[in-house]
Amino acid sequence: METVRTYNDKVVRQFTVATILWGIVGMAVGAFIAAQLAWPALNFDIPWLTYSRLRPLHTNAVIFAFGGCALMGTAFYVVQRTCQARLFSDRLAAFVFWGWQLVIVAVAITLPLGITQSKEYAEPEWPIDILIAIVWVAFGIVFFGTIVKRRVKHIYVANWFYGAFIITVAVLHIVNNLALPVGLWKSYPVYSGAVDAMVQWWYGHNAVGFFLTAGFLGMMYYYVPKQAQRPVYSYRLSVVHFWALISVYMWAGPHHLQYTALPDWAQSLGMVFSLILLAPSWGGMINGMMTLSGAWHKLRTDPILKFMIVSLSFYGMSTFEGPMMSIKTVNSLSHYTDWTIGHVHAGALGWVAFISIGSLYCMIPRLLGLSGMYSTRAIDLHFWIATIGVVVYIASMWIAGVMQGLMWRATNPDGTLTYTFIESVAQTHPFYITRLVGGLLVLSGMFIMVWNTAKTWAMARQPVAAVPIPTVVAA
Ligand code: HEM
Ligand code: HEM
Repeated sequence: METVRTYNDKVVRQFTVATILWGIVGMAVGAFIAAQLAWPALNFDIPWLTYSRLRPLHTNAVIFAFGGCALMGTAFYVVQRTCQARLFSDRLAAFVFWGWQLVIVAVAITLPLGITQSKEYAEPEWPIDILIAIVWVAFGIVFFGTIVKRRVKHIYVANWFYGAFIITVAVLHIVNNLALPVGLWKSYPVYSGAVDAMVQWWYGHNAVGFFLTAGFLGMMYYYVPKQAQRPVYSYRLSVVHFWALISVYMWAGPHHLQYTALPDWAQSLGMVFSLILLAPSWGGMINGMMTLSGAWHKLRTDPILKFMIVSLSFYGMSTFEGPMMSIKTVNSLSHYTDWTIGHVHAGALGWVAFISIGSLYCMIPRLLGLSGMYSTRAIDLHFWIATIGVVVYIASMWIAGVMQGLMWRATNPDGTLTYTFIESVAQTHPFYITRLVGGLLVLSGMFIMVWNTAKTWAMARQPVAAVPIPTVVAA
C-alpha cells in the first residue's frame, strides 16, 4: 500500500506559537518605552532598562521576532499548499525554526547589554549577523526547494512575493552588515560618512519594502482569498503589482535622508520614486480589497475578514502618507517629529500586525484539523480593541508630530525662535500618555488571542493528525 504523503505542519505550528509569544513580548516592550517617554523615571537608573537600549529591543522584537516568525510560518504553510508538496527538508525546516529562535534570544540579550552596531534595524553585532545569514540561507533552500519539487505547474503569486522577500532580505542583510570585527562584540562598518548613511537607508527602506511589505503581501494574496472564499480579484493585476513594486522600491531609500549630506540629486530621486510607489502599492491594496466583491456581506459576520480588510485600509493609508512625507517640503516639517512614528505604526501595526493576526486566525484551526477558532466573539472583541488601539496610537502621534514641527519652525518677527524645545516636549506629554493607552489596548487584544488559541488547541485531538497532500494534481 502506498504511504500517504502529508504536509509538514509541525514547523508551521511552532512558528505560529512563536509569533504570538514574540508579538506579546515586542508589544509589551513597546508599551513600556511608550510609558518611559511619558515618565522618564521609569528607566529606574538601570542601564539595561534605558530607553536607548529598549527601543531597538522593541523594533527588533516586533519586526524580526513577531513579523519574522509570522512570515516564515505562513511561507512554509502557503508554499506547501500551493505547490501540493511537502517541505523540501523537514530537518532543515526545524533548523530554520530553532536557528531563528536562537537569533531572537541572542538579540534580546545583547541589545539590553548595550552591544550594538548602532545601525537602525541592523543593530545586532557581527556574530549574530553571521548566524542570521546562515539561518536565512537555510530558509531560502527550504522555500525554493519546495517550489522546485512542486506538483503543480503554476507558481502561485503569493510565492513570488515570499520569494522576492527572501532573496532581497538576504542581499540587504549581507551588504549592509559588511564590517570589520575588532573583538567578539565590536565591529566597524566597511562604509563611512555619507556612503554609510546611503547604504544604511537603502537597507532600511528596503527592509520596509521587502520585510514589512512584500512578504506580508504574499500572506495577503493567499489568506484573503482563502478566508473570503473568492478568487483573487485580478490575477493579471497581481503580476503587474509584483513587478512594479519590486522594481520601484529599490530607489526610494534616500527619502530617509532629505536635507542631509547626501547629493541633492539622490534626495530628489528618492522623492520621485516614492511618489511613483503610490501606484503599485494601491494596485495591491485594491486587488486585495476587491477580492471581496460579491462577498462584502461576510464582513458582518466574519471578524477574521475584518482584520484583513482593515489591514489593507491601513496599508493604503500608510502608502499614501509615505509618498507625501517624502516630498521635501513636507519632510522638512515631518522629519524628527512623532508624525514619522504615527506613519510607522499605521504601516507596522495597522497593516503588518493586522494581516498577520487575521492570517493566523484563518490558519490555526486548519493546522489543528478543526473548522474554526474556539470563539468567534473573542476574535471580534480582539478586532475592536486592536482597531481602537491603533487609531488612538496613530491619531495621537499625528497631532503631536504636526504640532512639534510647527512649534520648532515658529519664529518671532526678530528672527528668534518662538518656542524653546522643552516647551514642545511639555506640549507633547498628553499625547504620549494617549499613545500609551492605544498601545495597551493593542497589547490586551493579544492576550485575548492567546486565550482563544489555547482553547482552540485544547479542542483539537492530540496528537494532531497530519494533513494529507491531495492526490489530484491541479494543472
Ligand atoms: C502595542 C503596540 C506597540 C507600541 C505601544 C509601540 C510603541 C513604540 C514606541 C514608543 C516607539 C518609539 C517611538 C519614538 O522613538 O518616539 C516605537 C518605535 C517603533 N515601533 Fe512600535 N509599538 C508597538 C507595536 C509595533 C509593531 C507591531 C511594530 C512592527 C511590526 C512596531 C514597529 C516600530 C518601529 C519600526 C519603530 C521605530 C520607528 C522609527 O524609528 O521611526 N511597533 N514603537
Ligand atoms: C509607498 C510606500 C511608502 C513610502 C513612500 C514611505 C515613505 C516614508 C517616509 C518619507 C518616511 C520618513 C523618513 C524620514 O523623514 O526620516 C518613512 C518612514 C518610515 N516608514 Fe514609510 N513609507 C511607505 C510605506 C511604509 C509602510 C507600508 C511601512 C510599514 C509597514 C513603513 C515603515 C516606515 C518606517 C519603519 C519608517 C521610519 C524609518 C526610521 O526613520 O526609522 N513605510 N516612510
